[in-house]
Parts: sequence; C-alpha cells; structure tokens
Amino acid sequence: MGPCSQGFRRGWQNPFLGNRLHTMPELPKIEFTEAQLKLRDAAREIAIQHLLPNAGKHDKDGTFNEAAFQAAVDAGMLGVWIPEEYGGSNLGITALSMIVEEFSKADPAFGVAFAVNALGSIPILVGGTPDQKAKYLPRVAAGKAACAFALSEKFAGSDAGGLSVRAEKVDGGYRINGEKKWTTNGSRADIITVFAVTDPTSKSRRISAFICEKTDEGFHIIKEEDKMGIRQVPVSETGYDNVFLPDDRLLGGTPGLGFKHSMMTLDLARPGVAAQAVGTAAGALEYAVTYAARRKQFGQPIISFQMIQSMLADMAMQTEAARWLVYATAALADRGSRDTTRYAAMCKCFATDTAVKVATDAVQVFGGYGFMEDYPIAKFYRDSKILQIYEGTNQVQRMVIARNLIKEAKNFDYLNNFIPTETQRTFGLEHEIANT
Ligand code: CAA
Repeated sequence: MGPCSQGFRRGWQNPFLGNRLHTMPELPKIEFTEAQLKLRDAAREIAIQHLLPNAGKHDKDGTFNEAAFQAAVDAGMLGVWIPEEYGGSNLGITALSMIVEEFSKADPAFGVAFAVNALGSIPILVGGTPDQKAKYLPRVAAGKAACAFALSEKFAGSDAGGLSVRAEKVDGGYRINGEKKWTTNGSRADIITVFAVTDPTSKSRRISAFICEKTDEGFHIIKEEDKMGIRQVPVSETGYDNVFLPDDRLLGGTPGLGFKHSMMTLDLARPGVAAQAVGTAAGALEYAVTYAARRKQFGQPIISFQMIQSMLADMAMQTEAARWLVYATAALADRGSRDTTRYAAMCKCFATDTAVKVATDAVQVFGGYGFMEDYPIAKFYRDSKILQIYEGTNQVQRMVIARNLIKEAKNFDYLNNFIPTETQRTFGLEHEIANT
C-alpha cells in the first residue's frame, strides 16, 4: 500500500479538491515566422558555402572566418535580436538561436562567435539608456561593430560577484584598472561590455557595467589563449590601464546595477549557446550517420549493426529533446516570461551535456578514424567540451535550477499529506525555504 492510500485511510481530506494544486509554467507555443525561417535557410546556405569547406582550415590556423561573417552581415543577421527602432529586425532570441544552430552544425566555433556578438550587445539592450541604445545598437545591427562581454577574471569565474577590476569615480567619468580573462571575441570586438567594481563596500550594488570601445586609451589585449577547441574564435585576456570612460559610458547611467545587468543578459544569451550545442550535436550526428552508412566491416555497412543503430537512435533523441527545450526557452525569452531564468539554465545545461555526449559517441562511430585530425569529427569532440563550461558552468546552471525548485517547494505543501510523518525530518531545508 503506497503513502497515498495510507493518507486516505487516515481520513485526510482529498487534497485535489479545491484550488490547491500547483500548476507548472504554461509551455510556450513554438512557432517560427516566415522571416525567421527565411533567415534559418540563409544561415544554412552560408554554412554550406563558407563554413563546411573551411572549418578544418580555420581550426588549424586559428584564423577567423571573416568571409562567413561578412556573408552573415550581408544577409542582415547581425540585428535579429535588436528592435527595429535601433536598426534591427526584432526577430528575437528565437531567430538568433536558429542562426547559431545552423552555423554550429557546420562549425561550432563560428557559431559561438556569432552568439557572443549578441551576448556583448545584450547588456545595452537590457540596461542601456535611450542614448546608449541609439548610439551603439544600430552599429551592431549593421554589422559595423563586433561585441564582446568582459565579465570573468582570473579569480572570478563562476563567482561573478567576486570581481576585482576597479572602476573609480573621477571628474566626468570613471577610471578602469585591471584584467579580464576569457573574453570571447576579445580581439575582434569594437565594443566591450566590461564589468567593474564601483563600490567595494557594498554587497548588492558593488558592480557596474561600462561600454568600452577598443580605441579607448589604455584598453589592450594582453594575450590570446591557445585552446583545445573553438580555435578560430579569439578568446583573449583584456587589459585596462587607467582607461578613462566618461559618465555616459556607465550602463544605464546609475552605478551598482552591473551584477543584475550581467545576470539578465545571461538569461537571454544562454539559449544562444544552447543552440550552439544543438547545432554541434546535430552536426556530429549527421556526420556519424553518413559515415556509418558508408563504412563497411564484416562485409556490411556498420549502420546495419544494432549496437551502432542504438547509439545513433540515442544521439538523435537527445539532440531533438535539447532542440525543443532551446526553442521553448527562446519563446519564453521573447515574450519576457519570468520563467526565462530557470529555462535558460535548463536548456544551457541539457543541450551542452547532450552535445558533449553526442560528439563523443560520434567519435566512437568513426572508430580509429574519429581520433584522427584529418577526419572532421575530432573537431566536434574538441569544440564541444567548452560548452559545459562557458556562459556559466553546468554546475552553476544546476544550482540556478535547484534554487528555483527550492523556491517552488512551498507550492507542493499539499503533498505533505501523502508522506508518512516519520520520514519528515527537516535538516534545515525549511529555514532555507523560509528565506527565499
Ligand atoms: N536576473 C536578475 N537578477 C538576478 C538574476 C537574474 N537572472 N540572478 C540573480 N539576480 C540578482 C538576485 O536577485 C540578487 O539580487 P539582490 O542582491 O537584490 O537580492 C543578486 O542578483 C545576487 O544574486 P545571487 O545571490 O543569486 O548571486 P550569487 O552570488 O549567489 O551567484 C550565480 C549567482 C548564479 C552563481 C552567478 O554568479 C552566475 O551566474 N555565475 C556564472 C557566471 C557566468 O555565467 N559567467 C559566464 C561568463 S560569459 C561567457 O562565458 C561567454 C563566453 O565566453 C562564451
């Protein structure tokens, strides 16, 4: 006899009567507009023409695929997440994700460069003054200014609140001093959103965001990172030697909002990186299917073996599940839903774990050839790993998801009726819930 029937035997009220059931967030409809689908097809064209044939070369050289980027600019893809009043096409995080997915299928490294261009400009979108939006966003939308997001530091990665780059108030502006680590797009960027400490004594309003331009005196590239994967995208250490930024470069015009700006930005940007993961998984899967159909062992194509079929079937299921979660999240983000934070964490975590698993299995399907750099699949494997680390490690995403669940635990109080009392020891969780 289960706890449920025990509960009824003890004569408790049926908790399903009355309005006590907690409802899950309404699932958004995933619908693509004509304009979004047209852009997805255009992204696929660019991927076939520019990315697929050159992915290996750019990976080896560590050079950026400028021709593909220019094609994306020409196709009007740089402003899809920007409102029309600032020169964009207002097609949202959904269109951004669709484009990133298509690019990443062919070359995950190019996919992240595109996604991070959005990441660097989203702070202006979510926190900028009308003047800042009018000054910078049209340049971004026209593809005339590439962007980067400088949050992480040597001693502050997951702990984004623990920054040490300092912005000191001086007459007419701020002086920025310090170093940033792992700035994706760093040396390609014209505009760098940099997060710095304006009030070291404050806990909740310690940090502010600033718009830095690459031409600002004192801004420099300290070093380019030598990476395991996504090798064509510059990931730089950026330095700020007494960089003077006038007051109108303080994002939003009010100090102390930087941490919130960074979190709000990441909520909107994480679906983009999750879309990169879906593209990575889909690209690896397509290569694996193609290879398995061609490669013969024991006198037949290996795709006829059930163990290979089972792997491919799992890879396809996982990729598709990740894709649905990404576009559900993008739809939530586009309608400004309060559930975006949790869904962004879930889609980032699930899709990137999926990408690593699918890319690993794709190497397995390729066997010994999968380990060789003259085959395309090794690059997918190398490119995939960073997905679980950047834009918030998957440990941080799980923490964000769990914190949301803890907040929600209150809504499930009615379930207590079904849990025998002897198992209801608290271990302090009640205290944590009471404080959320
Ligand atoms: N939206 C708005 N506000 C938010 C928020 C959100 N999503 N999340 C938190 N906040 C607010 C909280 O409400 C709180 O506000 P109050 O002080 O007014 O109460 C404040 O921010 C502090 O929040 P927390 O107590 O939750 O902060 P925390 O220190 O415990 O940590 C964290 C939060 C989730 C761990 C956060 O630090 C985090 O996301 N870390 C990961 C950083 C990250 O993602 N870095 C990626 C860099 S970019 C990158 O990688 C790009 C690339 O190269 C591709």
